[in-house]
Amino acid sequence: MLAFIGGTGLTRIEGLTLRKQHAITTRFGEASAPVAEGELNGAPVLFLARHGDPHVRLPHQVNYRANMLALKEAGATEIVAVNAVGGISVDTGALVLPEQIIDYTWGRDGTFFDDPDEPLVHVDFSWPFDAALRERLKGALAAAGAPWVDGGCYAATQGPRLETAAEIRRLEQDGNTIVGMTGMPEAVLARELQLPYAMLSLVVNPAAGKADREITMAEIEAVLHGGMARVRAVLAALAAH
Ligand code: HPA
Repeated sequence: MLAFIGGTGLTRIEGLTLRKQHAITTRFGEASAPVAEGELNGAPVLFLARHGDPHVRLPHQVNYRANMLALKEAGATEIVAVNAVGGISVDTGALVLPEQIIDYTWGRDGTFFDDPDEPLVHVDFSWPFDAALRERLKGALAAAGAPWVDGGCYAATQGPRLETAAEIRRLEQDGNTIVGMTGMPEAVLARELQLPYAMLSLVVNPAAGKADREITMAEIEAVLHGGMARVRAVLAALAAH
């Protein structure tokens, strides 16, 4: 079953006919919220609010292992993760289907394979996003008439503060095109669980130093509102395919 993880600005999906709520406690603790199971455009789907509903867990406080395991236990077979991001070389308002990630986070529980009694596993993560799922997302973006940017690299930063202008310059030199706080370890945990995973990002502000003004929550929220309406249309189109 197709599952969606909603980030900032997407704690619920309108049009989702709710059938069941899975309140799952995993061996790593509780997920951010119950996993909602329902129908979107006639197709069965799962939905999880990454930060909880209401939005309470900061990016570094999210229990990513519990979230991903809860989705798997609820029956997820593939995951589309939605993120609000800053634009390094992408304009505000754009939807992005990144192709790569660089992980700058620290101190997060980033693996399921840390039990000394289990065999050591190093997962391949050369291409963090599932190619087939990305192709289907492109079809859904086209069907929804939403212009998007294909590819680029997502920098996962620790947060919750935004970056300095110098940090953004460094991230740009590293090849990153967008920056967010939640892509890791979520993406690698999906890989460890062998769940195809792709990311759909909405650029909600120019990254630090990319515009001559402060980044305000009011500015971010104004973009989130209209942008997440486009994201919902894309998810509905994806479910219908
Ligand atoms: N930086 C990091 N994460 C973000 C940003 C940003 O500028 N905007 C939204 N999430």
